[in-house]
This record gives sequence, structure tokens and C-alpha cells, in this order.
Amino acid sequence: MTLVTARQLNKTYLSGEIPVHAIVDADFTIASASFVSFVGPSGSGKSTLLNMIGCLDPPSSGSLEVAGQDLTTLGSREAARFRGKQIGFIFQDFNLIPVLTVFENIEYPLQMVQNWPRAERRQQVEALLAAVDMADQAGKFPHQISGGQKQRVAIARALVSRPQLVLADEPTANLDRETALKIITLMKSMRDDSGTSFIFSTHDPKIVDNAETIYTLEDGRVKTAHREAKDA
Ligand SMILES: Nc1ncnc2c1ncn2[C@@H]1O[C@H](COP(=O)(O)OP(=O)(O)OP(=O)(O)O)[C@@H](O)[C@H]1O
Ligand SMILES: [Mg+2]
Repeated sequence: MTLVTARQLNKTYLSGEIPVHAIVDADFTIASASFVSFVGPSGSGKSTLLNMIGCLDPPSSGSLEVAGQDLTTLGSREAARFRGKQIGFIFQDFNLIPVLTVFENIEYPLQMVQNWPRAERRQQVEALLAAVDMADQAGKFPHQISGGQKQRVAIARALVSRPQLVLADEPTANLDRETALKIITLMKSMRDDSGTSFIFSTHDPKIVDNAETIYTLEDGRVKTAHREAKDA
């Protein structure tokens, strides 16, 4: 099943008077249960593209459909609702909520958007805390943990509601090899068990080697789509 369809997708920012063409005429489709990676130099448009797919930033023109929903017609409130239900987002700069503990940050999507019963919420948060090796840090606040630990909390928060699409902007940049591989394994099992699709922006060869499709971004243009994973 096709989960994401982009057609002639463009994003132009205005930097003062000067237009910045961050994404130019992007055309691609992404199926459910896939592992896809966007790679490209700094400023090539990776975050811009993920932010549009994740309903955080509207396209300037073209069409973008996620899970059968045309994103170009969504108002900001509908977009937030759709994102909360369908998408887990791992931000490049984590975006943890400073006044909430590690546990509460991970619990947040279940409480705010999904309205899970308390006991199930607790069980699910604890499962994710264990999966990212953060069980012993659950009561700490974001300013009391390291960059790699914040990244692991951000990953747990994105996965906790079992979304059908996870967008991950450089998700392993701050992680040691062992932790990164553990998290990739966790993501692959979600893909295999629940059909979740993962779209990464990354330079990390550990992720690129695991992706079935790699798109290269160059000055906002999606250049190539190629290769079947070695171990898929
Ligand atoms: N809010 C904004 N206003 C103006 N220009 C922007 C804005 N966000 C991004 N840009 C510009 O759009 C282009 C693409 O930026 P983007 O953040 O998508 O790159 P990236 O590939 O994610 O880079 P990095 O690897 O450094 O994270 C850049 O030229 C950037 O300066
Ligand atoms: Mg970026």
C-alpha cells in the first residue's frame, strides 16, 4: 500500500526578500512497511521535506498525500490532529518538553492525542523506556540528561503511540554504535510486526545500509532513488 505520494512538490522560503527554493519539484512514493533514507549535504532540504510530510510545514505548491489524506488542504488544527494520530516525529533537535520528566515526555502523545487509559499508558511508556535503555532515568528532566539520552527519549516518544509512519531527522547522530544498532533493530521489528514505515534523514551508514530505498537530495532536488537493501 502507498503511504506517501509527493507530486511536483515545492517549498520556497523567503529569506528577507530572497526566495530560497528548499524543495524543488519532488516526485516520489513511499509504501507502507518501508525503510527509506534521504541523504544529502547540509542545507539540501532534508528537514524541510520531513517537516512537510509530517504536517509541520505546508507545501508551497504541488501535492502531498499521506495515508490517503491530502495534506495541502489541512488547516493547522487538523494538521496537528492528523500528525498526532498517524505520525511519530523524531526531531533533529529533539524538541523535548523541558518541564516534563523523561517518563512524562514519552507519555505525552498517549495522553494528549490518543487518550489511552492510565494503566495501558504506563505499561507502554515503560516498554519504550526499556527499549531505549532509559528506564533508570525516567524521573529526570531533559536538562539533567545527555544529548544522546535526549535523543533516545525523542525516539521513544515518537514510537510510543505505534504510528503508521515515523519521520526521523538524523535520529542516531548522537548515539554510540551499540545503542544505534539496538534502535535500528527496534524500528525494524516495528516495521515487520506492524507495517510501520520509517523515513530517515541521515548521514549514518548504519541506517543507510539498512534502508531499502535511498533518495539523494541536492539543492532541494530529489536526485536518485535506488538499490534494494543487502539484508532486506
Ligand atoms: N524557516 C526557514 N526560513 C528560510 N529558509 C529556510 C528555513 N528553513 C530552512 N531554510 C533553508 O532551506 C534550505 C534547506 O534547509 P533544510 O533545513 O531543509 O536542510 P537540511 O538538509 O535539513 O540541512 P542539515 O543537514 O544541516 O540539517 C536551506 O537553504 C535553509 O537555509
Ligand atoms: Mg536538517
